[in-house]
Amino acid sequence: MTVKIAPSILSADFARLGEEVKAIDEAGCDWVHIDVMDGHFVPNLTFGPAIIKAIRPYTTKVFDVHLMIDPAQPYIEDYAKAGADIIVVHAEADKHLDRSLQLIRSLGKKAGVSLNPATPESVIEYVMDKLDLVLVMSVNPGFGGQSFIEAQLDKITRIKKMIGHRMIDLEVDGGVTADNAHRVAAAGANVLVAGSAVFKTKDYAANIAALRR
Ligand code: DX5
Ligand code: ZN
Repeated sequence: MTVKIAPSILSADFARLGEEVKAIDEAGCDWVHIDVMDGHFVPNLTFGPAIIKAIRPYTTKVFDVHLMIDPAQPYIEDYAKAGADIIVVHAEADKHLDRSLQLIRSLGKKAGVSLNPATPESVIEYVMDKLDLVLVMSVNPGFGGQSFIEAQLDKITRIKKMIGHRMIDLEVDGGVTADNAHRVAAAGANVLVAGSAVFKTKDYAANIAALRR
């Protein structure tokens, strides 16, 4: 199975965000992973729909928008309009996960749910038919450059089993490096998010290729 690489622009140079998006596109990324943080659900603050709209013309690749915001539901439409292709909400932030997933799909976007490291996979059991993607957090969300939490490998394997033959992407986010990418993929992930591992040096193409190997 081929694995998709989704560089997280959290580790990009924010002063040159458009050029950075263009650079990872040309370096061969599959998706662009966009981390939205509200300083409330997570202890860090990034950007909102206006910035996403501003960088949208710099690539035609899939915008994978990871909403680390609570509440998420009132803002979903704004992110859809800003140019998101996939909208991912956190199970812990959403009192009405089923409704949010339906809303995302009703806007013509792919719907994803993200699980913090301490959240069990059982939360997705009754929304499987409304999901296009499951995002397993392998660090506590909020910051780039943290270490991969090994216990998440087991969760990835379990979710892969739950997905079965459904067309649901299994994405892993946090601490993914060229050293552990093969283990994450072997556990069942088909989309790997990488922030620091892509942006650590200027040769984004080499860094993306190293993750793919
Ligand atoms: C963490 C974000 C991640 C982060 C990954 O809250 O959701 O997308 O940018 O960064 P690395 O790959 O450096 O762990
Ligand atoms: Zn993320």
